[in-house]
Amino acid sequence: MTASVSAAHLDARDPLAFARVLFDLPSDVIYLDGNSLGARPVVAAPALADAVERQWGHDLIRSWNENGWWTLPGRVGDRIGVLVGAAEGQVICGDSTSIQLFQALVAAARLVPDRTGLITDGANFPTDQYVADSVGRLLGLEVTRVSPPDVPARLDERTAVVSLSVVDYRTGELWDVEMITRAVHAAGAVMVWDLSHAAGVLPIDLDNLSADFAVGCGYKYLNGGPGAPAWIYVPFRHQAAADLPLIGWHGHAAPFDLEPNYTPAPGIDRARIGTPPVLSMLALEAALAVWQQVELADVRAKSLALTGRVIEIADEIDCVEVVTPRAQARRGSQVSLRMTYAYETCQALIARGVIGDFRAPDLLRLGFAPLYLSFQDVDEAMAQLTEIRDRETYLDPRFARAVGGAVT
Ligand SMILES: Cc1ncc(COP(=O)(O)O)c(C=O)c1O
Repeated sequence: MTASVSAAHLDARDPLAFARVLFDLPSDVIYLDGNSLGARPVVAAPALADAVERQWGHDLIRSWNENGWWTLPGRVGDRIGVLVGAAEGQVICGDSTSIQLFQALVAAARLVPDRTGLITDGANFPTDQYVADSVGRLLGLEVTRVSPPDVPARLDERTAVVSLSVVDYRTGELWDVEMITRAVHAAGAVMVWDLSHAAGVLPIDLDNLSADFAVGCGYKYLNGGPGAPAWIYVPFRHQAAADLPLIGWHGHAAPFDLEPNYTPAPGIDRARIGTPPVLSMLALEAALAVWQQVELADVRAKSLALTGRVIEIADEIDCVEVVTPRAQARRGSQVSLRMTYAYETCQALIARGVIGDFRAPDLLRLGFAPLYLSFQDVDEAMAQLTEIRDRETYLDPRFARAVGGAVT
């Protein structure tokens, strides 16, 4: 282990060290998959118990008013808004990222009805590409796949919408969102960002960016739990014109008039659809409480220090290639390492309590959630990885991939 400053020294000076106890994690696990499913905040279990026992069990349907269930999507949306640079009243929580992306792409294209092109990234998360293709078929748009840095050169007067993720989910590369958004606007097109790998771990200023729409999930760095609801950002300037394709009674201007025809609610409430997943949303709301004690700038600084340290150590392991950018401005909060036997190496790590994940065909992907990881965790995880690689432990048949087996 060659990292220059001792991990104990860095942990002793870590302004976020206190946050570790806000999460329930098994003591024998180093969890490097918070970029996929965030750890469980301590407050989640009592919040869910209260939701089930008191609110649902005792207060029953009165909870829509008395326990604030009706206003929950906007309340949680505003809390997420703080983390993504959106002033109150522009984010609604609900449904899944896939659904919110569909909403955003169709609404975006409807803002520029005379245009015919939709650009996505061929390395975008599968759901983002599938939804783009479906929206293309639905609205008669030609879908092209362009790598984010090449987008400015591919824009023209036909481009209606550009849909990209802020961070590449495989490599952890952070794109230049300002430059791309500016170029998209200069071409008269509409920009949709997916913040799934950014919200809660790096600063994004959607309002200052003049992003047109944004979406993200609730279960990665926001720690809302498996299947936590997603969110959509519709800025004030688009709210009146936003023609969202999925409309339901919760987004109606007068939901309890039960009118046969739809009139959208004013403001961001029009982005509500049907009845929200109240239990999951209450868990997410509880999880977001941690942000009352934490500064996003500290999270970003620690994320860069953790990932920088991992890169430094990984560079010393034979036959392991760091594919995540070394420049801090180009790095999200994960480090992806290319290697032979990446799947088997990942399994060998998991057997030692170091949980990361594998992305086909050859990437070991390690995610760093600064709220519950220490520098000593990082050193320990990398020591395990170094040993597994040096000793070729990954060749043990226990770690072989079952043919046709599921990949975690
Ligand atoms: C960029 C991105 N978009 C979307 C999703 C998932 O969408 P959903 O929550 O609808 O499954 C992921 C999941 O990892 C993702 O990385």
